[in-house]
Order: sequence, then C-alpha cells, then structure tokens
Amino acid sequence: MVEISASILTIEKENSIKKFYELETAKTDYFHIDVMDGKFVPKNTTAQMIEYSEYLKQISSIPLDVHLMVEDVKTWTLAFLGVSPNIITFHVEALKNEEAVMEVIKFIKDSGIKVGISVKPNTPIEEIYKYLPYIHMVLVMTVEPGLGGQSLIPEMLEKVKKLKQHITKNNLEIDIEVDGGIKVSNIKDAVDAGIDIAVVGTGLTSSENMAETMKQLKSN
Ligand code: DX5
Ligand code: ZN
Repeated sequence: MVEISASILTIEKENSIKKFYELETAKTDYFHIDVMDGKFVPKNTTAQMIEYSEYLKQISSIPLDVHLMVEDVKTWTLAFLGVSPNIITFHVEALKNEEAVMEVIKFIKDSGIKVGISVKPNTPIEEIYKYLPYIHMVLVMTVEPGLGGQSLIPEMLEKVKKLKQHITKNNLEIDIEVDGGIKVSNIKDAVDAGIDIAVVGTGLTSSENMAETMKQLKSN
C-alpha cells in the first residue's frame, strides 16, 4: 500500500492546530516539511517550517519527512536536526559536484537520520544512479519546486518507471517518493509507475473531509 506524506506548506497559521490534528487522526504516514530558502526557489519558508516542525514534534509521534529546497544544504540540515526528522532529502542540483553530494550524504547519515536525494523535472534521473547505493530514498519532483497547488507533469511518471526498473534490476533497497500535484484522481498512475510514497499537499489539506480523502489516496 502506498504511504502518504502530507505537505503542510499551504496550511495557514490560523488553522494550523486544527489541520495538524485532522491530518494526524486521518493517519498520515509522514508530515512533509517543505523548507525553502528564497535562493534555490524564490519563496522563503524556513522560519515557518521550523515553527511547524517544533510544534508537530510536541504533539505527535508521526515522523517528519524534511524536503530541503535550499542552496546551503549543510546549514539547513543542521537547523532541522533539532526536530529529529525521520529523513532529510536535499536537491542534487544544489551541490556543485559528486564529492559535495557524497559529503552531504555522509553528514546526514552520521547524524543518525535517513537521507534522500531529490531531482527537479529537468534533471535526468541517470544523474543520480551513482548515489543510489548510499541513500534511502529518491524524491522525484512531479512539478517545478517552489509552490503548492500546481498540476502534475505527466512525463515525470515515465521518469519514475525508469528509476523503478533500474532499482529492481540492481536489487537496491530504496524508496521512490513523488512530490507535486498528486491527488485522488491521479495517484493510481503514480502507484502503477512504481512509487512507495506520495507527497500530497493541497489535494489533501484543502479537502472537506481529510480522513475520507486519505482513505481514497491509500486505497491505491
Ligand atoms: C513544491 C513542494 C511540494 C508541494 C506539494 O515545491 O515541494 O511538497 O507543496 O503540494 P501539492 O500537493 O499541492 O502540489
Ligand atoms: Zn516537497
């Protein structure tokens, strides 16, 4: 069964306590924390995401799935170590070479946290094959990073299929997560392509009945 990581990016502060409670009772598998630094992507969500993560840690034992959309991966990894996430995912495009990527992988793992690598829509998936033996998850962006509420780019599911075939062929133990534009109407296509985890933002948090939407998402 596919796991759901609920993106809390578009949840407003006024409603946050109620929405977090609803997501928890709807049994989200993870809370997805979108950390944007205003450089790697235009928006800056760092302060809000630290505040939300600290609050979630106090009220819930549901694991945090941190997605760093930042240039300075090390600094923001350090900042989020304090909320003991289950996994930290960074963008391969944020680092200048293979050595820098391997250094960050080691840094996150040495902190006792799982590590994921994310690829933007225009990055060929083959570019990260060399890192797969060292990481726990690949996050395939199904929209351009930066904003919630965009539409899924259908070609990205071909990328997922290619990655899944490579993982199976090489007997690797690694999860595939997709992020952006996933909703009840298209999650089956992503599951058929080979995903393990789907990030769902507005497709879940703007629904009238999150528990029911969660059930429908997980039925795939
Ligand atoms: C986009 C973020 C996503 C996004 C998902 O940059 O990484 O996590 O908030 O939101 P939806 O599901 O609304 O596309
Ligand atoms: Zn995300």
